[in-house]
Amino acid sequence: MMILKPSTTQFLLLCGILAGLAALPTHAMTVHAMTRAQKIEAGATLYQTKGCGYCHGKTATGTAKGPSLAHLGWWHWRGSRLAKQINNGGQKMPAFGDSLTRDEVSELVTWLRSHPAAKTHN
Ligand code: HEC
Repeated sequence: MMILKPSTTQFLLLCGILAGLAALPTHAMTVHAMTRAQKIEAGATLYQTKGCGYCHGKTATGTAKGPSLAHLGWWHWRGSRLAKQINNGGQKMPAFGDSLTRDEVSELVTWLRSHPAAKTHN
């Protein structure tokens, strides 16, 4: 019968952890492989398909139901705060945290910060 010394057990555990880590980058890499331009494009599509435009307007310049988002630049609000609003909603805005992945929220934020009007209004 083979008895594993602690060092052998630790070694095998380490191998397991390393093997697990090695499997991770596949997903992480696909995310990081997205260029900023691709994120902006994905964000613009999400904005249309998730119905943000219903309240914020087709080009995000606002309607009676929701304020303009066109003025938001990276200097206006930190990305995490924008993501929080999208995830949790606000007073009149519904929460989207359940219907968007983290990557999708990040794509929306990237798109909002890159809005053409953000560059001219600030
Ligand atoms: C039902 C209407 C409605 C929908 C749909 C909606 N919003 Fe909003 N949103 C609002 C309102 C109203 C506010 C103002 C704060 C509040 O009352 O929540 C707001 C605020 C925001 C803000 C903060 C802007 C600021 O300057 O305070 C962001 C960012 C935002 N919305 C993004 C989005 C995105 C992205 C989507 C789509 C995933 C979306 N909203 C969908 C109504 C809506």
